Amino acid sequence: MATAEIVDRPTIRQTQCFIGGEWIPAESGNTFETIHPATGEVIAQVAEGDEADVNKAVTAARKAFDEGPWRQMDARERGEIMHRLADLIEAEMEELAALETLDNGKPISDSLAADLPLTIDCLRYYAGYADKIHGQTIPVRGNYFTYTKKEPVGVVGQIIPWNFPMLMVAWKWGPALAAGCTIVMKPAEQTPLTCLRMARLAQKAGIPDGVINVVPGFGPTAGAAIVKHPGIDKVAFTGEYKTAQTIMADASQTLKRLTFELGGKSPNVVFNDADLDAAAAGSHFGLYFNQGQCCCAGSRLFVQEDVHDEFVAKLVAMNQTRVVGDPFDKATQQGPQVDQAQFDKILKYIDIGKNEGAQCLTGGARHGEEGFFIEPTLFDGVTDQMQIATDEIFGPVMSILTFKDTEDLIQRANNTFYGLAAAVWSRDIGKAHLLADRVRAGTVWVNCYDVFDAAAPFGGFKMSGIGRELGEEGLKNYLEIKTVTVALD
Ligand code: NAI
Ligand code: MG
Repeated sequence: MATAEIVDRPTIRQTQCFIGGEWIPAESGNTFETIHPATGEVIAQVAEGDEADVNKAVTAARKAFDEGPWRQMDARERGEIMHRLADLIEAEMEELAALETLDNGKPISDSLAADLPLTIDCLRYYAGYADKIHGQTIPVRGNYFTYTKKEPVGVVGQIIPWNFPMLMVAWKWGPALAAGCTIVMKPAEQTPLTCLRMARLAQKAGIPDGVINVVPGFGPTAGAAIVKHPGIDKVAFTGEYKTAQTIMADASQTLKRLTFELGGKSPNVVFNDADLDAAAAGSHFGLYFNQGQCCCAGSRLFVQEDVHDEFVAKLVAMNQTRVVGDPFDKATQQGPQVDQAQFDKILKYIDIGKNEGAQCLTGGARHGEEGFFIEPTLFDGVTDQMQIATDEIFGPVMSILTFKDTEDLIQRANNTFYGLAAAVWSRDIGKAHLLADRVRAGTVWVNCYDVFDAAAPFGGFKMSGIGRELGEEGLKNYLEIKTVTVALD
């Protein structure tokens, strides 16, 4: 093996609540541990915010919104400050990537190649929108002049998960800041550190105090307090659909605007006329990337019968050479799962798959003795009703299903309450477009997988979500339309 190139661990600087521009402990004085998933060691004690801290954060955000240093600012200047935040993140890219790897466990090469560049790009994309948000003039009957304005929706509560901690901050802050909203964010309890670091950089960039507030803590306490607070106008949430159901119920009293980006069980379809090497590489990436902890993971891999054996052999070979290990080693391709709960959930599903009679071709167990590592696992002979084919596993577990004809395949691909993403691999453009047309999913990739861009809307049909993030669609969720009518005589 080549000499390992191990990246240094970063210093942890921010661990308190960030409210009204100040770093303060939780009012209760409580803290919670955050760990490094490769070893399980505690790396920091973080302020455990709850309702009392959310109340303070909402007061600060409300003041910043109502008094308007951000939304009343010259819109072009707002964009320039957002660009400055992106520049500061870029300048600290190595340190932030290492902090993400420390808290989440993802390989440093992924943090550097994916999380950081996508985060920076998203903030720059929305920075460019800040001065391009405008309404219309509308011809109405009678002697009136009618126009619309697009105004920020207000104070937004943003609750994010742990699989792409920084990137989820950018997806949430980008459109909210461009629109002129103010923010109360709760990062995931597993991964609060990069969000807090970004709050520091936002302040350094010149975002006025109170515009961004971060309350670390747990879902049922800090998260629920955000959802129920009458001073919050909208909640944007990414996570599990069951949590979204609770949030929808909790938000009903105040009729908050809600956007949800939830999970999936995305079909990835390989036809017999596909470039099989490209399809195998893309399918491997589309499932195992980020330890399988992706909402859009291609976790139902439908392979056309007559190429099954050849295709599966390629997948097996890739799993056998996948480098699992220390996420701080630049050669590592797969790190640990984020925590004990996810680790246990995935191992439980692996057992279920074995008991359901699927053939485990690779992996099927934990990797190593410490940390939350799981071997790249491949199940063949999976059928539609098996639990490993219906439930979101959110780990490095791939299920192979076979199909014969296209009509039957489309019906099976859609036979799920999820509808986040899908992919098709084929050299026949008619077939590829037919599938793109018929599959009920918010994103369809043709001869590629996991291609994300800040300009391209992303979100789910059915129980995979409500609304879209990214692109112009993602901005709309942060705007209210005001209609003004003026009598002309
Ligand atoms: P979760 O949905 O419980 O957590 C996501 C965020 O919601 C966290 O910040 C959490 O503190 C917060 N939250 C939890 N309960 C809340 C409540 N009652 N009110 C307000 N906020 C609340 O997801 P969790 O438990 O981390 O993972 C469970 C499963 O969810 C995973 O195994 C995976 O299948 C799925 N998941 C999907 C994600 C996606 O990107 N769509 C991301 C994370 C998890
Ligand atoms: Mg949960």
